[in-house]
Amino acid sequence: MQEQKFKRSPLFYVGDKYKLMEQLSNLFPDDIKCFYDVFCGGGSASLNTLANEYKMNDIDANVMQLHRFLIEHSYDSNSLIEEFYHLIKKYNLSHSELGKSDEIEKLKKIFKKTYYSEYNKENYLKLREDYNNTKNIKLLYLLVVYGFNHMIRFNKNNKFNLPVGNVDWNKNVTKAIRDYCEWANGNDIFVTNGMDFENFVLQNNYSTGDFLYFDPPYLITFSDYNKLWNIEEETRLYNLLDELNKQNIRWGLSNMLKHKGKKNEILKKWSEKYYIYDIKSNYISKFDNTLKSDSREIYVTNFPSKLF
Ligand SMILES: C[S@@+](CC[C@H](N)C(=O)[O-])C[C@H]1O[C@@H](n2cnc3c(N)ncnc32)[C@H](O)[C@@H]1O
Repeated sequence: MQEQKFKRSPLFYVGDKYKLMEQLSNLFPDDIKCFYDVFCGGGSASLNTLANEYKMNDIDANVMQLHRFLIEHSYDSNSLIEEFYHLIKKYNLSHSELGKSDEIEKLKKIFKKTYYSEYNKENYLKLREDYNNTKNIKLLYLLVVYGFNHMIRFNKNNKFNLPVGNVDWNKNVTKAIRDYCEWANGNDIFVTNGMDFENFVLQNNYSTGDFLYFDPPYLITFSDYNKLWNIEEETRLYNLLDELNKQNIRWGLSNMLKHKGKKNEILKKWSEKYYIYDIKSNYISKFDNTLKSDSREIYVTNFPSKLF
């Protein structure tokens, strides 16, 4: 079997860059000393980029806590996975990696798109309650695996509040954990506790060879974390990138120029002074043809890519 080149993050993060890393890694420099993953989310960019060291940040402290947990346990992925298997059993959740279950096969016939959620819903609520009472990080990871769209969301009282999803622990989850651990165990990685991008960028001293990757929420698309984003944030980011450029610090930015009839005019105007590369987007469905699609995803950088 051919070895898969790119690693999937075990956080299965909404908006993750896993599918785009083949294109992006060709545009990143190939001599990176420190890779700064400023809006790291699930960490797909770090996982799939070669560098001497990594600094990862996201404003979401829970996401950063999950990264820290995985990194700290990366020296023994077998034990980590065993612990999760034990918890899956304890909470009596489905575990499709182990093979077909008669009960789920029956549910599949009745609930065509929600068979795992039907099976897991009550036990998932018990898991969620236990997590909210204990804040045990292993339980949070299981909530991410079994929860709606693998998302992480808390209410005002800091209680995890997403419902069960139609997903479970399959072989991809185990593989993603193994791949992450293999990467983390062999590398020098620093993770923040969850900081605003500007504070994170300004606190570091950069040297030649460093590279900063920015994958912010997109102004014109929709996802839960886009609630944190608006024109002021976008402008603050572009000012920061201009400032880094003045200091000859290398960076790359992913973003969306147009999507579903919306255009990001500030991005269009600002990006003209840098190098712009078109990216075949996740947002264009495989049934769309590019000519018909009105989405345009781009990668902007302040130095010419090695390919061009
Ligand atoms: C498009 S996602 C990043 C996805 C990531 N590159 C991946 O591959 O999984 C954007 C991220 O920006 C984070 N974010 C939003 N506002 C932020 C801010 N002011 N500072 C730092 N991170 C922020 C969100 O929590 C979200 O994880």
